[in-house]
Amino acid sequence: MKQRVVSGMRPSGRLHIGHYHGVLENWIRMQDSYDCFFFVADWHSLTTEYADTSGIAESTREMVLDWVAFGLDPAKSVVFRQSLVPHHSELNLILSMITPVSWLERNPTYKEMLDNIDQRDLSTFGFLGYPVLMAADIILYKATRVPVGHDQLPHLEITREIARRFNHLYGSVFPEPEALLTETPKLLGLDGRKMSKSYGNSIYLSDTAEETSKKVMAMMTDPARVRRADPGDPDVCVAFNLHRIYVPQDKLDEIIPACRNASIGCVECKRILAGCMNERLAPCRAKREELAVNPAFVDDLLRDGSQRASMISDSVMTEVRTALKF
Ligand code: TRP
Ligand code: SF4
Repeated sequence: MKQRVVSGMRPSGRLHIGHYHGVLENWIRMQDSYDCFFFVADWHSLTTEYADTSGIAESTREMVLDWVAFGLDPAKSVVFRQSLVPHHSELNLILSMITPVSWLERNPTYKEMLDNIDQRDLSTFGFLGYPVLMAADIILYKATRVPVGHDQLPHLEITREIARRFNHLYGSVFPEPEALLTETPKLLGLDGRKMSKSYGNSIYLSDTAEETSKKVMAMMTDPARVRRADPGDPDVCVAFNLHRIYVPQDKLDEIIPACRNASIGCVECKRILAGCMNERLAPCRAKREELAVNPAFVDDLLRDGSQRASMISDSVMTEVRTALKF
């Protein structure tokens, strides 16, 4: 029996290459060795976007196009949308009854977000309960493994505590899911800060080759390399963090000494990078364009996946209601 994996992403729109190398690539790799459930966490988006929900549908569509074009395969994995499987909400309600508020209040992610509060008012019941909904997402499918980044570990710990408490109160229904830590170093954006949509420093999976080249050519390099004749250091060069991913090793072995003795200029060096990136991304970008032609593609896919997810969640909810003597 394969281990069951459940993971979700909030609909954030078009994905950048940092999302891809950080999360999506890992999901895609897991598809053959695990029984995978991947979903759009649109109800989770409501916890912070409740005042303006106008972007959620379009962000869902763009994100799922990226998922599938770059290799998530609905024939291998159950790919669905949280809000199309109402059992998430029913289980959330039941789990909310047994979750002490103190567990939620001491959650470091919660405290951090409240402190960094922007214009939005996050002092809501739903935002405090974010980890309860996440626990419901995971144990609703009796997942045994959850691929998450470091930032989500506290949430997963709460999930395990909630599952344990449920089993203790009502009898053993849920396995305690384990984190599959995916520690990929954060990609740097064009300006040397972490690649992030809100910084406007990202290269998107769906950018054209021209857009990609333009961005790469504008990318920061070694700040100490002011003139063409100055020797550089790839270890402190912002662009070079992408070279390591996209440029083949034999080419890197040429570039590194050439940078250090100033026999290659940054313009030429970044042109090589842009070429390698575009070559690698081209087939998936072409596939994305094909998929996007059909306006119903994402809706159909998510409806079908959500039906498949519901078959599992339905039987688990039957067990839950039985355990509760309802
Ligand atoms: N909280 C996750 C994030 O912000 C998204 C998410 C929601 C999730 N439900 C989940 C991830 C269940 C893993 C499993 O990235
Ligand atoms: Fe970076 Fe290449 Fe310029 Fe060296 S030559 S600083 S590796 S872009």
